[in-house]
Amino acid sequence: MRLPKAGTIEIVPSILDADFARLADELAVIEQAGIRMVHLDVMDGHFVPNITIGPPVIAKLREHSNLVFDSHLMISEPVKYAEAFAKAGANHITFHIEVVEKPKELIDKLHDLGCTAGICLNPETPVENIKAVAPLCDMVLVMTVHPGFGGQEFMLEAAKKVAEVRRIVGPGVRIEVDGGINTETIPKVISYGADTLVVGHAIFAEPDRVAAINAIRAAIG
Ligand code: DX5
Ligand code: ZN
Repeated sequence: MRLPKAGTIEIVPSILDADFARLADELAVIEQAGIRMVHLDVMDGHFVPNITIGPPVIAKLREHSNLVFDSHLMISEPVKYAEAFAKAGANHITFHIEVVEKPKELIDKLHDLGCTAGICLNPETPVENIKAVAPLCDMVLVMTVHPGFGGQEFMLEAAKKVAEVRRIVGPGVRIEVDGGINTETIPKVISYGADTLVVGHAIFAEPDRVAAINAIRAAIG
């Protein structure tokens, strides 16, 4: 399981609105529908005001799923926990620039652990802060809401940063957007240069996940 090379548009369902008591089944449904990656939102109650899952849950899910595990670490100490997430079976690990002083060292460490590396910036964080290291990553994650909760309203100004990131990284690095991504906002983020679309509420808050995925595919065109 490896992050697909840049050049395709990927829908990446976020588990935040899924049924946490039936996570393996939820993953099986999206995998059956042809999805290749799942976005695992990890929250520590410190970097963000919410708590979700950690390595033990990811390790158990790994036994049930062939999806690429795209782990979004919304935690204050990603350096400390990177290895535990890699060992649990995360394939791609994204950390927040806001809490890492030496991002190049962490990117190298993630690669050494056999993972692809992602860097993320919050809506208020300038692109300038990731300029030097973004090209070293496999994917850049641009938050289009303040991290912490699913189902929030899309922030257009934050999404516009995607175009700036694209100019910096060129075509070979994926750009992921996360927060308020749905059939209405997808054309905008694609026009800015995003190719990896995290979708939480618009899939897992719908009773028919497959129909929701197909509606999103139609919006991509
Ligand atoms: C927000 C998370 C997102 C979230 C997106 O803190 O990082 O991945 O689940 O959910 P929606 O698509 O509902 O905005
Ligand atoms: Zn996320």
